[in-house]
Amino acid sequence: RAVLDERMSSLVAGPSLVESYLEHIRNTCLVGTDGDLADYIPELARVDPTKFGLSLALHDGYVYSIADADIGFTIQSVSKPLTYALALTHKGFDQVDDRIGVEPSGEAFNEISVDSKRRPRNPMINAGAILSASMLLEVEPDVDLAFAELLEFYSACAGRQLALDSEVYESEMRSGARNRAIAYMLQSFGVLHASVEASIDLYFRQCSLVVTTDDLAVIGGTLANGGVNPRTGRRAVGQAVVQRVLSVMTTCGMYDGAGDWVTTVGLPAKSGVGGGIMAVLPGQLGIGVYSPLLDEHGNSVRGVAACKRLSADLGLHMF
Ligand code: DON
Repeated sequence: RAVLDERMSSLVAGPSLVESYLEHIRNTCLVGTDGDLADYIPELARVDPTKFGLSLALHDGYVYSIADADIGFTIQSVSKPLTYALALTHKGFDQVDDRIGVEPSGEAFNEISVDSKRRPRNPMINAGAILSASMLLEVEPDVDLAFAELLEFYSACAGRQLALDSEVYESEMRSGARNRAIAYMLQSFGVLHASVEASIDLYFRQCSLVVTTDDLAVIGGTLANGGVNPRTGRRAVGQAVVQRVLSVMTTCGMYDGAGDWVTTVGLPAKSGVGGGIMAVLPGQLGIGVYSPLLDEHGNSVRGVAACKRLSADLGLHMF
């Protein structure tokens, strides 16, 4: 915290240095109206496009947050690293690696894309995420029980009990033709072993969990801490799994915007079409940002802009 205070004092002045600095970031990012709301289901198009939340969770468990940090939104694809972590924990690295690659796809998140071994190219695109969810069903075939375990894990990472947005979930289930097509393709290739409908169901439930930027920052903080939640002090996930998850987030977390992100921001991160981004500075902090207008890759325009500023101002780039 002392290092953050010192770096920020050269950028802003005031009684609450960190919050004033984060407000300054917000003001610089709110200019312009670039981006579009996700509209593949009506619930996502109904949100207020001007909302903006930003939270930082430090490794000592302290959370700084500003503006709309208390607004709930659906986690969507920011869930993918967590379900991948659970699949690695339950099935082991060898079994997961046999069926999900770790290479950036360079394609859109919902692309029907597999490698020469007919594996989804990575767990951050839909194909790999649906397969990760299906692996949880190989261990626990009852979708309600598998979801209960998933929810407990996500809640342990966030340090509070999370819950489902049932309207988003039901809407996703009604409009999931593309994801069902991906799951059937994976089944026909022999890599998806659980029931297609249960896999899609579990995947949509995980996407429909409601989080705030404080939650994303604490989840990021848990990954930054090698798997120990900085708020509760409890281990949620093993160190080796965290190392793998952060590696894949670095190369694949921002989809086909990953190269620009890694060169400018330089942090492992994951975005979602709900407008959230979670970024991680290993050993130091987790960042949660929310703003629902999305760029052509499905990443939050203002969220990306805020992370670029934070990284440049505070010297957060890993390299
Ligand atoms: O259609 C889906 O798969 C969504 N429920 C989640 C996708 C997502 O968030 C992609 N991210 N940018």
